[in-house]
Amino acid sequence: MKKINIGIIGLGGIANKHIAELLTCEDAQIVAICDISPAAIEEKNKKLHLPPEKCYRDYKQLLDDPEVEAVEICTPNYLHAEMAIEAFRHGKHVNLEKPIAMNRAQAETIVQAKNESGKQAMTCFSYRFFPAVRYAKHLVDSGTLGEIIGVNASYLKCSALWEGRPLEWRFVKEYAGSGVIGDLGVHLIDLAQLLAGNITELCAQRAVVVKERKRLDSDEIGPVETDDQCDFIARFACGAHGAFHITRCAMGHGNTISYEVYGTKGAISFDLNNPKIIHICIGEGDPKTRKFETVDVPSDFFLDQERAFVDSLLGKADPLFPTIEHGEQGQRVVDAIIASAESGRWVTV
Ligand SMILES: NC(=O)c1ccc[n+]([C@@H]2O[C@H](COP(=O)([O-])OP(=O)(O)OC[C@H]3O[C@@H](n4cnc5c(N)ncnc54)[C@H](O)[C@@H]3O)[C@@H](O)[C@H]2O)c1
Repeated sequence: MKKINIGIIGLGGIANKHIAELLTCEDAQIVAICDISPAAIEEKNKKLHLPPEKCYRDYKQLLDDPEVEAVEICTPNYLHAEMAIEAFRHGKHVNLEKPIAMNRAQAETIVQAKNESGKQAMTCFSYRFFPAVRYAKHLVDSGTLGEIIGVNASYLKCSALWEGRPLEWRFVKEYAGSGVIGDLGVHLIDLAQLLAGNITELCAQRAVVVKERKRLDSDEIGPVETDDQCDFIARFACGAHGAFHITRCAMGHGNTISYEVYGTKGAISFDLNNPKIIHICIGEGDPKTRKFETVDVPSDFFLDQERAFVDSLLGKADPLFPTIEHGEQGQRVVDAIIASAESGRWVTV
């Protein structure tokens, strides 16, 4: 059977995950790669063995390549909108890293370009593919928890505290848009909205903890412009309340994502460091006698992100497939968080 031909744009950290998963996907093949850095191309091509004419330094040349049917955009945030819109204009399907844009207006232009092109697009909300999340969604949708009344979620990393970490693009507003809100928070927001429906109002605060870093290209010190931590409380359209804590200054945490979802009949909690198990509190009898039980997630709740993208191109989209519109909805919440933190007030999404 013919394989779907994929080009990867941006060959840094997250491209490793895209490449590793695509290499195990029998219905797709990587036929071209692109990065402005020759070193990044050389490093990734050690595994891919593409001929030099398929290793591009300019993404527009990769988009001009007629062999490429779909692109995976893994560049810094400020390039997402431009690259995705160009890709749609070139008739390519797009798998776009999160946050899909720098702000809501840009996100809307991406959705419009996608609709005009008639092509498929995915937002890389990678955690939708974690078994515990998929099983949690099944439990919520089957009514096991009753009416959802509360969501507590946190995303904890210590990555702002790494010794000597320089002033990378993530710490510069012009390249990143926002800090942990767009980088980590947008994942947390997407999963919360997957489980409890859309967030309608919120009140946020945010802070820069490490205020200066050494520039990448000199010994000069420059200011960190993007938030290191952010907290917000939220109201969902269903009436549920949410409390969210997002930080890259949580000592002792590599990448800890935790959820608690409370309903009128039961509760669940999970931690994506252990994505194959979930803690469930359901059953009959007086709630004061009930305990959480730890359950293994059944194997039919397992799916790879890249497998899901390729399936969508083959007309077999997964029910939890993260569309570009989900990316836009996440961006709306990110913009509302920034507006709320700036004004110190509740903001409608
Ligand atoms: N889904 C997830 O869980 C997840 C995890 C990490 C990062 N991300 C997202 O992935 C994106 C990239 O993050 P990263 O950590 O891989 O960053 P990175 O800095 O490690 O890699 C970015 C790469 O893009 C390349 N690049 C920059 N400008 C380019 C251009 N004009 N043309 C082609 N290549 C260009 C850089 O040279 C670099 O190799 C970000 O949007 C980030 O938010 C998502």
